[in-house]
Amino acid sequence: MNALCTVHYVLFVTFYIDDKFLLDYNVYMRNITELIDILSERHILSYEEYLEIISNASESQKDYLFSRAEEIRKKIYGTDIYIRGLIEFTNYCKNDCFYCGIRASNKKCERYRLTKEDIISCCSAGYDTGYRTFVLQGGEDPFFSSDDMADLISSIKKQFPDCALTLSFGEYTYDTYKKWKDAGADRYLLRHETADKTHYNKLHPKKMSFDNRIRCLKDLKSLGYQVGCGFMVGSPFQTCEHLAAEMIFLNKFQPDMVGIGPFIVQKDTPFGNMKSGTLEQTLIMLALIRLTLPDVLLPATTALATIDPFGRELGIKAGANVCMPNLSPVSVRKKYALYDNKKSADEEAAEYTQQLSERMRKIGYNIVTDRGDRKHANIEQ
Ligand code: 5AD
Repeated sequence: MNALCTVHYVLFVTFYIDDKFLLDYNVYMRNITELIDILSERHILSYEEYLEIISNASESQKDYLFSRAEEIRKKIYGTDIYIRGLIEFTNYCKNDCFYCGIRASNKKCERYRLTKEDIISCCSAGYDTGYRTFVLQGGEDPFFSSDDMADLISSIKKQFPDCALTLSFGEYTYDTYKKWKDAGADRYLLRHETADKTHYNKLHPKKMSFDNRIRCLKDLKSLGYQVGCGFMVGSPFQTCEHLAAEMIFLNKFQPDMVGIGPFIVQKDTPFGNMKSGTLEQTLIMLALIRLTLPDVLLPATTALATIDPFGRELGIKAGANVCMPNLSPVSVRKKYALYDNKKSADEEAAEYTQQLSERMRKIGYNIVTDRGDRKHANIEQ
């Protein structure tokens, strides 16, 4: 009797395991690869389908995802890499985002501001090195009035008329954004940080609002800026479901640029004990973005280069097509400490760009001297 029971049990378990294994194997293996193919052709998936890839892709499926993303990136942008000269002109900030090292309450952050002359000489050095886009990035610093910024923008555009100018210093009114557009600004980067309002409220103090962030992005678009949004990967309280929702948001908003990078802990913030995001998950998101918005401008960010010594290269191989080296004076670079161990070169612009160029050449890509505007591929979904 006992022996019979054991035989039955063994047979049951064997069949059950086999069945389940085969089922899982078929459903997941076939479906994720198929989903990647569908996304490569139609550039859209449902929320559940994005979630499936984000949550369950195997190592080989991830590699396949990266190769499809690289393929489409090459179809549109060839092997060109656009460079943007980043000028971090102030690390004063009136906001208090829980994740950010330059938040107003961080008394340990050593503050600095560049003068107009400093900024223009950074542009000059960058121009001579081959940069044709400058990005003015900073905290939300009330020291600079909207007229100061308009004056700076028109001076840069006058001196470097063949360059694009990108602004990235936070939330303002429609009228202010309009003033800066009229002064000659071309692009604006404003990461939405997360597409989920409840999640947004966990990352920011009460004073800040998701709705205002989105209002800014919509205003910028309606004013004719090329607009970049973006988010951190692995930010505190973020789930795979949030990441799938990011893809739906991007598809709806249709930005010209998307800046993403892993969340990295900054020890003097309220999130000082949280876990950082991962390289892998950031690469998956880069590839999904490239396949969803084939002609989008997609940087391999400094945060990616910070969590892995080959982060930039891996980002490019997963579909990114932009690098944003720092043109700020070497003396202030370390003070723009959004997160711990932020990668910051000690070299001047020219030398650093030369090194970057060699690294890119090693993986089959070329840095180009070009404004690097978005190419509009005719994509039908
Ligand atoms: N880790 C990674 N990215 C960060 N940022 C701010 N703090 C961090 C951090 N701790 C990003 C935000 C912001 C951009 C300028 O830098 O997404 O929009």
